[in-house]
Amino acid sequence: MSADKSIAIVRDKKNPDRLLMMMLAAKGGYISGEEISRKFGVSRSAIWKQVNHLREMGYEMESSTRLGYRIFKSPDLLFPEEIWSKAELSFLGDRIYYYSTIGSTNSEAKRLAQEGASHGTLIIAEEQTRGKGRMGRVWTSPRGTGIWVSIVLKPQIMPSEAPKLTMLTAVAVTEAITEKTGISAGIKWPNDVLIDGKKVCGILTEMSAETDVVNYVVIGTGINVNNDIFPDEIKDTAISLKIAAGNAVDRIQILAGFLERLEYHYKTAMARGFEPVLNEWRKLCCNLGKPVEIVTRDGSFTGIAEDIDEQGALIVKKTDGKFERVLSGDVSLKYRR
Ligand code: BTN
Repeated sequence: MSADKSIAIVRDKKNPDRLLMMMLAAKGGYISGEEISRKFGVSRSAIWKQVNHLREMGYEMESSTRLGYRIFKSPDLLFPEEIWSKAELSFLGDRIYYYSTIGSTNSEAKRLAQEGASHGTLIIAEEQTRGKGRMGRVWTSPRGTGIWVSIVLKPQIMPSEAPKLTMLTAVAVTEAITEKTGISAGIKWPNDVLIDGKKVCGILTEMSAETDVVNYVVIGTGINVNNDIFPDEIKDTAISLKIAAGNAVDRIQILAGFLERLEYHYKTAMARGFEPVLNEWRKLCCNLGKPVEIVTRDGSFTGIAEDIDEQGALIVKKTDGKFERVLSGDVSLKYRR
């Protein structure tokens, strides 16, 4: 274990904190001590201990001799039970690693995947001290503001298809934002999610593969939810859901919605191929049909973004009329509105 971790919780969906699950299911209503003791087969004093444990976790609990216990305020933390109680999932998040602080959830996910972490494992942190962005950039991940999550997947696809999983993730984030907040978001090729032309979400996919086998894929997703400010370098190009909505947004609702959409598209892609989700991607993309500037290590060129091909590469019609196929990885795209 590296030195920059503080609280870490590892939880399996089959074995959650049962009292917390029960209290969350009651949605702020009371549950009597008798009911809890009957369900769990434990004494009243054991319940008292567990209730105090929830208080230590940050839940504000009311207890009444007549009515029992209720949660009247939750701590706005992305605990596994919060996710399980709000998201309908069949395999994503069966195991969740939750960290209060970590260097990078992607680095941790890769380490866990090397050690055999199973398909669908989630790594979530309240804060990243060394959050990684694409092309070696830093991803600012302040405590409790955003969703910093990495997902371990073991898809039976060719390594060359992995970029499409990133595109699938961008679709899932965009749909969740619109569904949960009503804010209209779009995708900038290949996988930035934008609101009003500013970046609200970035995705970093890392893969371990052999020639024709994927060992695992780690999909790291950073969503700016309740950030009020951004560092100078990105303050003109980044946005949070709170800034866009004008009020704080429930991180759990966004995360739950995102995971549900991701699982849905993933299962569809594995059963029927990527075409359905790539069609959704095309609808949500704000570049297609628009002028773009592609910056590669060897120089830059401008043109019109015509389409994406079956590999997810961007097809750009250059000013000289020739078509260029642009693969993600070594390009930076300036979006010209
Ligand atoms: C980008 O540059 O657009 C990609 C940003 C990806 C950030 C996420 S936050 C969770 C995960 N852990 C990381 O270190 N990075 C990704």
